[in-house]
Amino acid sequence: MTYFASDFKDVDATNAVQPFIQCLKLQQSLESYHRYKHKTFEEMHLVAGASVLEVGCGIGEDAISLAKRVGSTGKVTAVDRSQAMLNQAIASTENLALPIEFVLADAQQLPFTDHTFDAARVDRTLQHIDHPQLAIAEMARVVRPGGWVVAVEPDWETFVVDSGQRALTRQLLNLWCDTFPSGWIGRQLFRYFRQAGLTELQVNPETIVLTQFELADQILAFVQTARKAEACGIASQSAIQEWLNELQHFDQSQQFFCSFTIFIVSGKK
Ligand SMILES: C[S@@+](CC[C@H](N)C(=O)[O-])C[C@H]1O[C@@H](n2cnc3c(N)ncnc32)[C@H](O)[C@@H]1O
Repeated sequence: MTYFASDFKDVDATNAVQPFIQCLKLQQSLESYHRYKHKTFEEMHLVAGASVLEVGCGIGEDAISLAKRVGSTGKVTAVDRSQAMLNQAIASTENLALPIEFVLADAQQLPFTDHTFDAARVDRTLQHIDHPQLAIAEMARVVRPGGWVVAVEPDWETFVVDSGQRALTRQLLNLWCDTFPSGWIGRQLFRYFRQAGLTELQVNPETIVLTQFELADQILAFVQTARKAEACGIASQSAIQEWLNELQHFDQSQQFFCSFTIFIVSGKK
């Protein structure tokens, strides 16, 4: 069964793209995501006619937004390492007559020459990469001098859940965080941007709050994480069930609360 913390790293290896597509569509539909994405677009300093790179484009929604911003004289190059994701992105953009090219590529080794783009952006993708500093260095390499690199990524140790069971909650949230190839990328972005030689660095945190258990579970896999914890012996079946029951009880009385912080970091080449 798909587990987003580990499986977004190689979607094609799972042979089941639909859960990933549904998860991304759901997130794209949320107002809080619209808000932070808008901020990242602003930080790219785009003008009509600009050539931009979108890394880890997923279902292509952000490539569409970027293409509308740069207009018909501009160009968006959108890369992803999953052919299944690219197929979905191509299908949803083919009738839109927008200047978007989709390219199968790994963010850690971009197939573009130096100084190709006016700006590059990555959104919730570095968390799934083993060596995210390589991807940031690659984005800095392919952007022209004076151009902008923008990344927005969560730090999963900012993930908080209101529960009466503090110790078990910590264990489960650590399990979620540590299952990502780069669960701490949020706090590491600043250092990696510096190491890539980017200047005028800006860091803007945005906190996403979810107060409906079902919605949170579809994005943040509460039930799966709890079952994984049970399978690896972190807690007994009864302790896990009690933890889940409490969250569902909170939900029924409109008291469920969880949140996590994502960091928008931008830098100029
Ligand atoms: C959580 S999704 C985010 C998609 C999109 N940026 C968004 O905001 O909806 C992560 C995406 O990164 C892609 N991905 C994972 N590892 C990658 C890599 N090494 N290089 C390029 N893309 C990668 C996945 O296939 C997936 O489409």
